Amino acid sequence: MCMNSNFSTFVGLTALGAYVPSEIVTNDDLAKRGVDTSDEWIQSRTGIKERRFARADEFTSDLAIGAVNDLIKRYGENVLAGVDMVIVATSTPDALFPQTAALVQNHFKLEAGAFDLLAACPGWLYALSAAAAYTRSGICKKVLAIGGEALTKILDWSDRTTLVLFGDGACAGIVEVVPDGYGFKSFVLGTDGEGAKHLNMRCMNSKLPDGSLLSEKISMNGREVFKFAVRVMHTATKQAVEQAGMTLDQIEQFIPHQANYRIIDAAREYLELPPERVVANVDRFGNTSAASIGLAMREAIDDGRIKDGSDLLLVTFGAGLTWAASVVRWHEKTF
Ligand SMILES: CC(C)(COP(=O)(O)OP(=O)(O)OC[C@H]1O[C@@H](n2cnc3c(N)ncnc32)[C@H](O)[C@@H]1OP(=O)(O)O)[C@@H](O)C(=O)NCCC(=O)NCCS
Repeated sequence: MCMNSNFSTFVGLTALGAYVPSEIVTNDDLAKRGVDTSDEWIQSRTGIKERRFARADEFTSDLAIGAVNDLIKRYGENVLAGVDMVIVATSTPDALFPQTAALVQNHFKLEAGAFDLLAACPGWLYALSAAAAYTRSGICKKVLAIGGEALTKILDWSDRTTLVLFGDGACAGIVEVVPDGYGFKSFVLGTDGEGAKHLNMRCMNSKLPDGSLLSEKISMNGREVFKFAVRVMHTATKQAVEQAGMTLDQIEQFIPHQANYRIIDAAREYLELPPERVVANVDRFGNTSAASIGLAMREAIDDGRIKDGSDLLLVTFGAGLTWAASVVRWHEKTF
């Protein structure tokens, strides 16, 4: 497991954009579409009320481009000046290749390298850690780190337990050098491949180590993922805070992966955090996987919960089974 906080150059997020498709699908809408479920069941088990569905002709690259357009709208065209690397964290790329990041690079005509990164729901935090390493080492100066998912295209409509959880969306952050004291203070990155069987999807004719062929759609053992999630959310949080040389009471906002309100609440109780220090919007967007932390963080910046200099804890988990956590001091730049 990687755990690092020994940083000499300060790098961090300086801008954040977000995008969700316009179609809102409520729990009742799912029932109307033939899913044997109810608003009461979904809300009581997950806290989810609605999620966004991408149009049939809208793919992860379109959502990613939407999030970058939001960056431009908020910060001006200069926000992209000098971007020399594009990373798209996604489990739902438009194609196996070319990489979705190349489609984003081409759309904005960036003079940049581009690659996709697959680390399931923690993908965006892994992308931020890669972007931090690139910018701290000097290999890159300015990285566009995107988390984007069109998960509703890979739902198994015969599995009512899993399909009600997911939604579509994207976030886009800029990572570069920041003034001393700001930026990333720690990263915790871990995986336990023993849990691969609990959450997976086929890619071509892929198999698990035991030889079993995977499903063509998302397949999940919800109970096992739930137990893993609650455990790892609080252990990774504690490790990231400790690595940053801080204590939990110094963290102003805790931004967990938005998978299920019960998981967020269980982690919150373990960590003894008051609800006002925990950002949650899973009720309106469901689980948007690699996009979820960025979408939640953007909302909390917009409503004033996150301010310049706020110390934040980002923590996430997902297929792999994989987890990631980071402490970051927010610094929004004028471009
Ligand atoms: C998926 C999850 C909400 C299911 O909750 P659960 O309490 O484990 O539910 P179960 O699968 O045991 O099902 C309980 C009952 O509800 C029923 N049920 C399942 N899905 C349903 C649905 N959508 N609507 C109505 N009833 C449903 C089951 O058939 C079962 O009925 P039974 O008791 O008569 O057999 C929960 O396990 C979970 O959130 N896991 C974590 C998943 C996650 O976050 N994944 C993303 C990781 S990035």
